[in-house]
Amino acid sequence: MIDVLEIENLCSGYGELNVLKGVNISVGENEIVALIGPNGAGKSTVIKSVFNMADISEGNIKFRGEAINSLKTHEIIKLGISYLNQGKINFSNLSVRENLMIGADQIFASDVAEQGLRQIYDKFPDLLTKENELAYTLSGGQQQMLALGRSLMQRPELLLMDEPSLGLSPKLQQELFETIASLKNDGISLLIVEQNAKKAIEIADRTYLLEDGKVVLEGGKEILDNDAIKNVYLGGRY
Ligand SMILES: Nc1ncnc2c1ncn2[C@@H]1O[C@H](COP(=O)(O)OP(=O)(O)OP(=O)(O)O)[C@@H](O)[C@H]1O
Ligand SMILES: [Mg+2]
Repeated sequence: MIDVLEIENLCSGYGELNVLKGVNISVGENEIVALIGPNGAGKSTVIKSVFNMADISEGNIKFRGEAINSLKTHEIIKLGISYLNQGKINFSNLSVRENLMIGADQIFASDVAEQGLRQIYDKFPDLLTKENELAYTLSGGQQQMLALGRSLMQRPELLLMDEPSLGLSPKLQQELFETIASLKNDGISLLIVEQNAKKAIEIADRTYLLEDGKVVLEGGKEILDNDAIKNVYLGGRY
C-alpha cells in the first residue's frame, strides 16, 4: 500500500542554515507516527518542510505517492493535510465557535461545516459550554483542545501535530493523548512531534528519534527499552 506521507532524503533549513540532513520518514495509512528528539534537532522543521514553510534543497515529500514539494501551503491544506502548530495558536479575541469555523467555512458548504462543528463539540464538550466565550478566557488545556478542534474541522486525512501537550498538566496531557490515540478510529493518519517521549512512544505505532537533523533510531514500542532512549529522554523515570 502507498504511504500517506513519504519524506525521502529531505535536506532543508532556513536560507543558509541547513537543518535537516537527509531525513527519511514515512506515515502509513491509519498509522500514528511519533517524532522525538532534543531541542533544536529539527523536529518542527520536518513538519514545516511538509507545509512548504522551510527551504528544501534536496529530497522529496510525497502525499499518497504524489510529490507535494512545489505546492503552496494553502494547496497542501486542500489536499487533506492539516497542521497543529507549536505554541500559541488560537485567535484570542475570537469566540470558540469563530475559532473553529475559521478556514472550514472556506472549504465546506455551511451545513457541512455546521455538522463538523457538532462532531467537535461531541468530542470536546468543554468547547460547547464555552462556545461563545473569547478564546483567551479558556484554560491551557481547553486552548489545546480548541486548536486541535480547528485542525479537525478541516477533515484532514493526515494531521501533523507539533508538541500538542506543551504546557499541559500531566492529567490534561493524559486526556489529550487519549484523544489523539482515538483519532485513529476516525481514519486520520498522524505525525506527532512530542517532548514527552515516553507518552509519544506509547501511543505511536512507530517512532523516529531525530538528532542534529538526522534520524538516528526508528522502531516500535520496544524502543522504550533502548538505553539511549531511557537515559537521555526518559531520564530513567519509569
Ligand atoms: N524560522 C527560522 N529561521 C531560522 N532558523 C530557524 C527557524 N526556525 C528554526 N530555526 C533553527 O533551526 C534549527 C531547528 O529548529 P526546529 O524548530 O526544527 O527544532 P525542534 O527540534 O523543533 O526544537 P524544539 O524541541 O525546541 O521545538 C534550530 O537551530 C533553530 O534555531
Ligand atoms: Mg519544535
